[in-house]
Amino acid sequence: MDLAHAQEVFKRLYQDVPGYDIARTEKERTGLKEAGTTYGEVVPGAFIEVLLEAEPKAGEVFFDLGSGTGKATILAALAFPFSRVVGIELLPGLGDAARGVLTRYDAEVRPTLPPEHQGQRIEFIDGDFLQQDLSTADVLFAHGTCYGPETMAALTQKLTEMKPGSRIVMAGQTLQSPDFAFVKMKVMRTDWGTALAAVYRRR
Ligand SMILES: C[S@@+](CC[C@H](N)C(=O)[O-])C[C@H]1O[C@@H](n2cnc3c(N)ncnc32)[C@H](O)[C@@H]1O
Repeated sequence: MDLAHAQEVFKRLYQDVPGYDIARTEKERTGLKEAGTTYGEVVPGAFIEVLLEAEPKAGEVFFDLGSGTGKATILAALAFPFSRVVGIELLPGLGDAARGVLTRYDAEVRPTLPPEHQGQRIEFIDGDFLQQDLSTADVLFAHGTCYGPETMAALTQKLTEMKPGSRIVMAGQTLQSPDFAFVKMKVMRTDWGTALAAVYRRR
């Protein structure tokens, strides 16, 4: 799908999804109020530009760690011929919102897409990304500006289960490990400001 069309479809899908309000309510309800759950969302053009730096290929698998209402996951499905896209989110209310968008995507958008997009597997999983199997990911995104040092240390270790040659786009943080080769740094506009997004390749 061309970028302009993907952006238009995306805007329609998300026009009534108040991610920040849901995140605030969910943090109160669950008590998970630490900085790691500070909310923020990608914006379509800037996110797709950054993801291009990871050189996604047809049939590959995409993961978004901390997927919120699913914006990055849905954009990855719309803009690239991934065979499977997976969002993992700690706050269940955000996961519910993402699954609500997916229901509308399946009914209104998927049937209009080219075959390689119609057949994509799209999933939103509730839970801690540190507890999930990341070994099938070819391209992984983490918008982790607010992750603390302990989360980053655990995540860096966790990412070593990824395949050699897989790519990681880490927004707002850097990976301090010889297991990951630095590829590029990009400036990424988000809905809350600007983040630096670092692209790595698993050695
Ligand atoms: C900055 S938001 C990014 C949302 C989405 N990826 C985007 O870029 O539009 C970070 C998200 O990560 C979630 N999160 C934080 N720690 C997590 C963990 N350990 N496991 C799963 N999700 C987590 C937060 O609840 C929040 O929704």
